[in-house]
Amino acid sequence: MILFKKVSDLKKFVEAQRLMGKSIGFSPTMGALHSGHMALLHTSQAQCDISIVSIFVNPTQFNDPEDLKKYPRTEGNDLAMLDKEGCDVVFMPGVDDIYPKNLPETPKLDLEGLDKVMEGAFRPGHFDGVVQVVKRLLDIVAPDKLYMGQKDFQQFTIINFMIEQYKLPVELVVVPIVREDSGLAKSSRNVRLSEAAKQKATSIFQQLSGLRAALEKFSPKEVETKFLKALEIAGLEPEYLCIVNGKTLQPVSDFSKESYVVACTAAWIEGVRLIDNMILKQ
Ligand code: PAJ
Repeated sequence: MILFKKVSDLKKFVEAQRLMGKSIGFSPTMGALHSGHMALLHTSQAQCDISIVSIFVNPTQFNDPEDLKKYPRTEGNDLAMLDKEGCDVVFMPGVDDIYPKNLPETPKLDLEGLDKVMEGAFRPGHFDGVVQVVKRLLDIVAPDKLYMGQKDFQQFTIINFMIEQYKLPVELVVVPIVREDSGLAKSSRNVRLSEAAKQKATSIFQQLSGLRAALEKFSPKEVETKFLKALEIAGLEPEYLCIVNGKTLQPVSDFSKESYVVACTAAWIEGVRLIDNMILKQ
């Protein structure tokens, strides 16, 4: 496994691989790696000649400075895990490499409201930061395929929109959510939870799993209210459940009439914010 810290070194490597006709798969991460991230790498390895994983805790996407400070950093572990899984290249740039002073400023992309709902409503500016860093990373790595997790449904939907808007020559591949045996979605933030909290948090998956049946009987609004109540009873502080069209992320009013529906949720426990989702129809 080769570790690059400098943009120029990584670019040189990628150019050489391209000249040899190799295809490049790229999985961007913020480290604190777990089997959810590894699923991206494994999919990339199955589809591309060279798999690159980046580790960069992007400051511009944290609207809460405390969250940025507390974000787990486990560099040694991450590198060992990637090496063990046969990753070809790790890219670990510094903040000054990703955002150098002389970088021409790109105008902010109008996300046409995709960034105003769900996560965007609770984390203003978050998706501008995500779009900024993923665009910059794609410019540097220039991969054939980009791997992102379904875990962050709104994130990959917005990145897909960005790729379409800028007509970028990259294919986005979405990898299904990896969960603990308990159903809890794997997340870098889970390490901050006590065992008791982890147990309570399994109610998120349980409640998501009951939504499809509930929508046969009740309206999306009624189902949302019942879901939030159930999470409260389980000991969580839910922020939202949104039953939305999977492309526009706009709320669905008649479940039976839609063809692509996803339920997205966020809830707090022990000061940790967890997100999860389930595709109900596609
Ligand atoms: P991070 O939270 O580290 O996640 C990196 C990638 O791993 C994302 O595409 C995310 O959806 C995926 N992922 C995380 N947990 C997963 C799980 N349980 N199952 C499947 N995939 C999972 O998302 C980010 O970093 C950043 O916003 C980033 C895109 C790197 C930009 O900074």
